Amino acid sequence: TNGFTVAIDGPAASGKGTISKAVAAHFGFAHLDTGLLYRAVAGKTLQGQSPAEAARALVPGDLEHDDLRRPSVAQEASRVAAIPEVRAALVDFQRSFAARAGGAVLDGRDIGTVICPQAQVKLFVTADAEVRAERRYAELAGKGMDVTPEEVLKDVLARDARDMGRADAPLKPATDAVRIDTSTMAIADAVAEVAALIQGVL
Ligand code: C5P
Repeated sequence: TNGFTVAIDGPAASGKGTISKAVAAHFGFAHLDTGLLYRAVAGKTLQGQSPAEAARALVPGDLEHDDLRRPSVAQEASRVAAIPEVRAALVDFQRSFAARAGGAVLDGRDIGTVICPQAQVKLFVTADAEVRAERRYAELAGKGMDVTPEEVLKDVLARDARDMGRADAPLKPATDAVRIDTSTMAIADAVAEVAALIQGVL
């Protein structure tokens, strides 16, 4: 499985993170949540650093802060993610991760299209915005964060628009990606479907 790469893209709260984690554990692959890279850059720009500098200076320890989950950081992440110099600074790290021995799952917005167009398995995971907002709301509220369902829906829609509308590496399915709509699907069933797909390619 050296260099075996699974690319999982999709909008916020589509279920791609949960699916990625579960299939990585199932096959013993390493998992990289690439959204965390942009959130970590956002955490630094919110403290006054310049986006390109923050991206170039990023170290693995920067990804381990709990407050990177906050909606304000997510919004800032989608803003810095539209800056080409920020994206360029993060490419090598993601590609080396994808090439590691033992297989890798990367989830994000541009993994199948830009970062790993050669990935052996490409998925595009979606769900209706209302369903995604509900899931994200439950998750944030469950962590004790002070948010309303309306705010979360607005946040999700704003990020979708920004992520799909940017010129550099916009959110879109790779032409050869398998699409999975999790709107009316239990995530466990989506995990089983993806695991079967990977098993068929291994
Ligand atoms: O996946 P997550 O919601 O943590 O991503 C936060 C933001 O980072 C996204 O809204 C998107 O703008 C950006 N992102 C990106 N490319 C990726 C992963 C995330 O532009 N591969």
